[in-house]
Amino acid sequence: MKWFVQTAAMAVVVAGFVSAEPAQAYGRDGHRIVCDLAYRYLSDDARTEIDRLVALDPQFEAFRDVCSWADEVRGSTHRHTAPWHYINQDRDDPQVDPEDCAENGCITSAIDLHAGIFADRSRSDEDRLEALKFLAHWMGDIHQPLHVSIDGDRGGNDIDVLWRGERRTNLHRVWDSEIILDHMSESWSWAPSAERNAYFAEELAAGIPLAGVDIYTPLDPIGWAQESHDIVRSREFAYYWARPDHEPIEPGDHYYETGLRISQQRLRLAGVRLAGLLNQIVEGRTETARTTPALSGSGALD
Ligand code: ADE
Ligand code: ZN
Ligand code: ZN
Repeated sequence: MKWFVQTAAMAVVVAGFVSAEPAQAYGRDGHRIVCDLAYRYLSDDARTEIDRLVALDPQFEAFRDVCSWADEVRGSTHRHTAPWHYINQDRDDPQVDPEDCAENGCITSAIDLHAGIFADRSRSDEDRLEALKFLAHWMGDIHQPLHVSIDGDRGGNDIDVLWRGERRTNLHRVWDSEIILDHMSESWSWAPSAERNAYFAEELAAGIPLAGVDIYTPLDPIGWAQESHDIVRSREFAYYWARPDHEPIEPGDHYYETGLRISQQRLRLAGVRLAGLLNQIVEGRTETARTTPALSGSGALD
């Protein structure tokens, strides 16, 4: 209820608002955090295989460096992958299913595709490394709630926001980057910004009671997408009712604090599920007995 009051009280900003460029994915920081976190939960076999593949490309030093590559190529060498970063629903269709995928593909089909290529040992190392780079990126994107949103406003990119009274941005960017960047600069202001991702990953890991446990995650992109979609449809998310072409909304500190809690849980789930999926693929498992235990809740508000 408090949230509703806050949402309803969002201030309207009047003059001279210029919208930011559309955001595309979890920003670079979000993807690095997910992959840094995932790396901590890889089995020995999975870590060895991933290190081996990543080392084949001198452009990358470590696994976390490959995780935002998909955003760098979506507008150039891999234009056909641009729609694969998200899936959108009709306004009156709250249920995510494979038929909601766009004709040229979407995030759920891209996860199936790249998990399959990464798993296929008859493919070249080059193909499997590329599939790994995509898969690691998709696992971040599918957990960003607005990557499973409602058709028509480009995942909130068209909803203008004045963020915390000072930054002109849009709702998509708030969830890709602003919340994450604010939390990092408030928590680790003394650290160089390039190092703050690692502190964030460490903080998230501290909230996951999984150390030393082998984790396996069955492939379930529709289920993961559904969780994100349920979050964006919640009243508290202040999205479903928002309309593009209105005056910018100005979410308050309460929106930031609740958004941070949701973001932390989505990042945790993305990282742990990515590790569990890579473990399962590399070890060729079919059983899913020990599947990402002790991480209950999608991140939605209770
Ligand atoms: N472009 C169109 N819809 C989008 C979404 N849900 N997320 C990111 N980019 C988009
Ligand atoms: Zn993306
Ligand atoms: Zn995004």
